[in-house]
Amino acid sequence: NEIYLQGLGGAVPPFTTDPDALEQSARDRLGPGPFWYVAGGAGSSATVRANREAFDRVRIVPRMLTNATERHLGVTVLGTELPAPVMLAPVGVQSILHPDGELATARAAAELGVPMVLSTASSHTIEEVAEASGDGPRWYQLYWPNDPDVCASLLDRARKAGYTALVVTLDTWTLAWRPHDLDQAYLPFLRGVGTAIPFSDPVFRAGLQKSPEEDLPMAILRWVQLFTGTDKSWDQLAFLREHWDGPIVLKGIQHADDARKAVEYGMDGVVVSNHGGRQVDGAVGSLDALPSIVEAVGEQVDVLFDSGIRTGADIVKALALGAKAVMVGRPFAYGLAHGGQVGVKHVLRSLLADFDLTLGLSGHRSPADLGPDALRFS
Ligand code: FNR
Repeated sequence: NEIYLQGLGGAVPPFTTDPDALEQSARDRLGPGPFWYVAGGAGSSATVRANREAFDRVRIVPRMLTNATERHLGVTVLGTELPAPVMLAPVGVQSILHPDGELATARAAAELGVPMVLSTASSHTIEEVAEASGDGPRWYQLYWPNDPDVCASLLDRARKAGYTALVVTLDTWTLAWRPHDLDQAYLPFLRGVGTAIPFSDPVFRAGLQKSPEEDLPMAILRWVQLFTGTDKSWDQLAFLREHWDGPIVLKGIQHADDARKAVEYGMDGVVVSNHGGRQVDGAVGSLDALPSIVEAVGEQVDVLFDSGIRTGADIVKALALGAKAVMVGRPFAYGLAHGGQVGVKHVLRSLLADFDLTLGLSGHRSPADLGPDALRFS
């Protein structure tokens, strides 16, 4: 309605939210380095494509005369009441895309009451982002450090700064073969933009003789040392439980047996995700992995979903297949690139409006109305 009314006055929205056009215009704006940091996938990008193809194989079957003119989008996930079953996925080093980085994202998310999941690899500290987020809901994503003291310290800081749930990403114990980033020797990633540098968090400063600004290579080595390559086990989840008194979900789950294990080891949920196709090339489309995981653990814990969500219809499909809520990655990152806080807000509001309309026009009044019978598979 707002867009329509403004259109009567001759005004058009600040930028497109058509998914493909949004990606293209972000490409024009950002230049190849930062653009490919966001858009790129692992290897041949087969998994990025598989994520979209999985959505294309599922079709919504609209129902008529169901009194869906008034809708209620709210859901409760991990004890947090959300205005809609949507949240912002953790996306690292957002200063590559806009100088305000995660601060802009946090402000936009808070304006709409949509949770932001802050990445361990944030360009701004846990506390700075919490301040920008204000009363907004916020969760913390953990890349599980090899040093238990650093791990305990990150969790302690996140809890004190008001992050309510912990998202533990398991699929990125080392970075995949990402040709686009490798071709550029990760330079856009390392440099960030403007004055904000990635890795400003104090955790990267510990043990450094100089500041990360002065000695970026050492800061990067510190990252590698802290976050890559050391085996962890299911038993070690007890450490996280000991140091985090809120809900914990495991992100990167694609197999029903891993979801069962998450429950067995006392986790509160899983995020069915393949990291937006950025880790295992040739992996199953994330939506294809969802039904068996919902069947395995959906009655016991919250099953969240990401990887490939671009439209309201995608959200309808994921929820109909049993996801409690979805996370969105690249689209909001492109919004950030287009205009900081305003850009993220525009993308998010558009996605929520699209979801609301698609939900209603397909005959459903709330997320709870959705089930597999709303879909047909080709
Ligand atoms: C990510 N993702 C990610 N995940 C995570 O747990 N920690 C992180 O720091 C990052 N960083 C990151 C950077 C960029 C540029 C992208 C695109 C993605 C993965 C993210 O949380 C999510 O799983 C995917 O983005 C979902 O797929 P779509 O929505 O991008 O298709």
